[in-house]
Amino acid sequence: MKAIRIHEFGGPEVMKLEDIERPVPAADEILVKVYASGVNPVDWVVRNGGNDFLKQYLTLPMTIGWDAAGIVEETGSGVTDFKKGDAVYGVPNFPGSNGSYAEYCPAKASQFALKPKSISFNEAAGVPLVGLVACNALFELGKLQAGQRVFIHGASGGVGTIAVQMAKAKGAYVTGSASAGNQEFLKQLGADEVIDYKAQKFEALLQDIDLVFDGSPLRDDNERLKCISILKDGGIFVSVNVDFPFSDAVKKALANKNAKGEVVAVQTNHRDWLNEMARLIDDGKVKVNISKVFPLEQVAEAHKESETFHTRGKLILEIRRENEQ
Ligand SMILES: NC(=O)c1ccc[n+]([C@@H]2O[C@H](COP(=O)([O-])OP(=O)(O)OC[C@H]3O[C@@H](n4cnc5c(N)ncnc54)[C@H](OP(=O)(O)O)[C@@H]3O)[C@@H](O)[C@H]2O)c1
Repeated sequence: MKAIRIHEFGGPEVMKLEDIERPVPAADEILVKVYASGVNPVDWVVRNGGNDFLKQYLTLPMTIGWDAAGIVEETGSGVTDFKKGDAVYGVPNFPGSNGSYAEYCPAKASQFALKPKSISFNEAAGVPLVGLVACNALFELGKLQAGQRVFIHGASGGVGTIAVQMAKAKGAYVTGSASAGNQEFLKQLGADEVIDYKAQKFEALLQDIDLVFDGSPLRDDNERLKCISILKDGGIFVSVNVDFPFSDAVKKALANKNAKGEVVAVQTNHRDWLNEMARLIDDGKVKVNISKVFPLEQVAEAHKESETFHTRGKLILEIRRENEQ
């Protein structure tokens, strides 16, 4: 089968399109015939050798990519919840070495769910990783309730676009930040208020916020302090950047507000969230926003674009055409 492999860590040039043996699923795994893979910043972080958290899990050579939509090709001997031919989506074995930039990838059955019926494989591949992070941040760590006010920083990217829509579907009042060219886009997603983070100071405009979800790529203490400054007393701050721990200054600012601070890491065994997102998508309440689809051969271009951190919605690698057998 074809797969994008790396044998060394480095720039986009280390990714090679190769023919390798098709993986065999373990007893608790499914083998997914991959139609599309989402592209996420973690893909090129791993390609570069990982960060302090990820390094320990990485082994070479590896197939990268951890966001897949496809059809179940085989089931392991212990799998009872899927059958061959089911259309599925999920985050396969993060951050294992048989990733989704490949014609087939193995994954724990518990990491996958039936894909939303109303959207294409390309669209479905843009949901699992960012969607699971957003749900975990907003609802498990952030305890977001209907009627509460949430500020989502970095709301126009992969994580942000699904977070805005999931928060709206919950009935929250949502303020999102993005650069000037994405203000209208955020309104179309359903944001009640939008802030241009370059031209406006959110810390001067917002106060008494129940939850701040920082879904931006900023690894910056001052930015975190600004986020905490707009919380209500007892509010919650969740950061998506798990590789940038809270400093003493951030911990102190949280304590001064009686606020809780959390960093969110993707939890892949959450079929309930995948099912809930599929339901909201099929009900027309959540839309998937794809900015570009690349063929597997153009993976280096996809990574270069992701590395700008200015993707609107998602970048997708198409591995098979929608109706291809
Ligand atoms: N913990 C986890 O498990 C996990 C999972 C997924 C992602 N992440 C992390 O989450 C972050 C976002 O990921 P993503 O997939 O959403 O990335 P993305 O698709 O590249 O989106 C990044 C977004 O950040 C915004 N942004 C860029 N510079 C900004 C700034 N100075 N201030 C505020 N917003 C800014 C951009 O908005 P404009 O284009 O409008 O400027 C863009 O829409 C990354 O750091 C990624 O590593 C963590």
